[in-house]
Amino acid sequence: MSAESPSPRGVPLLEARDVSASYGHVQALKPTSLHIAEGELVTILGPNGAGKTTLMRALTRLTASKGSVLFRGEDISGLSTHKLARRGIIMVQEGRGLFPQMSVRENLIIGGYLHPADTEEQMGTVFDLFPRLRERVDQLAGSLSGGEQQMLAIGRALMAKPQLLMLDEPSLGLAPRAAFEILNTLRELNRRGIGILLVEQKAPLALRLAQRVYVISLGKIVAELQTHEIKSHHDLARYYLH
Ligand SMILES: Nc1ncnc2c1ncn2[C@@H]1O[C@H](COP(=O)(O)OP(=O)(O)O)[C@@H](O)[C@H]1O
Ligand SMILES: [Mg+2]
Repeated sequence: MSAESPSPRGVPLLEARDVSASYGHVQALKPTSLHIAEGELVTILGPNGAGKTTLMRALTRLTASKGSVLFRGEDISGLSTHKLARRGIIMVQEGRGLFPQMSVRENLIIGGYLHPADTEEQMGTVFDLFPRLRERVDQLAGSLSGGEQQMLAIGRALMAKPQLLMLDEPSLGLAPRAAFEILNTLRELNRRGIGILLVEQKAPLALRLAQRVYVISLGKIVAELQTHEIKSHHDLARYYLH
């Protein structure tokens, strides 16, 4: 799905070094370092209020932050959303940010503004992933169900041909079945080579998907675990207790 060459061997797709963020005097995100390898699906797991959204927004400087962020070894700290998109970094924010008075098609076209010549082809890819969007192509985004809106938000992100997709709780507010469907699609996208950073509050969903999990609590990463370690120890809960 992407034309760019992968990172040089051993260089992470994304690397954050001591990224922190404050709201006034409150440091909501303590200096945090993390990485996503090329082709990896990594989950940031943590309870409500832990700092997941702050972390994701700090990585893209939507929230003022300190520290540095590297993409394939190049410093991208402070680049605008538009410049990040040009590099292939796309974020699907909590709340989805769709244009409710525009149709499914129009929302997708906007997402594809970087690659106008490929709009039709890319839209076909999105519709193959989410057939429900094809059926509702002329429907207003605001009239879609929650699950369909999330599909559209992800579809719109895909129109930009991301190398790295960052998603903030795409399962939030969805019925279990819709959440499952969305997360399965993320796995499929990852199989196609897109790096994925997924923020998720529901541990079972996160563990089903990710190869590696960072656990965040009170604005700090308190654990980095391989998914299979967690499954064998059933010990995730203790990271939630403070
Ligand atoms: N705009 C803001 N102004 C002040 N405090 C905020 C703001 N956004 C989030 N916070 C606080 O920062 C902490 C982390 O919030 P957030 O990153 O949204 O957590 P999560 O996404 O894990 O639920 C919480 O204590 C929250 O109340
Ligand atoms: Mg959040």
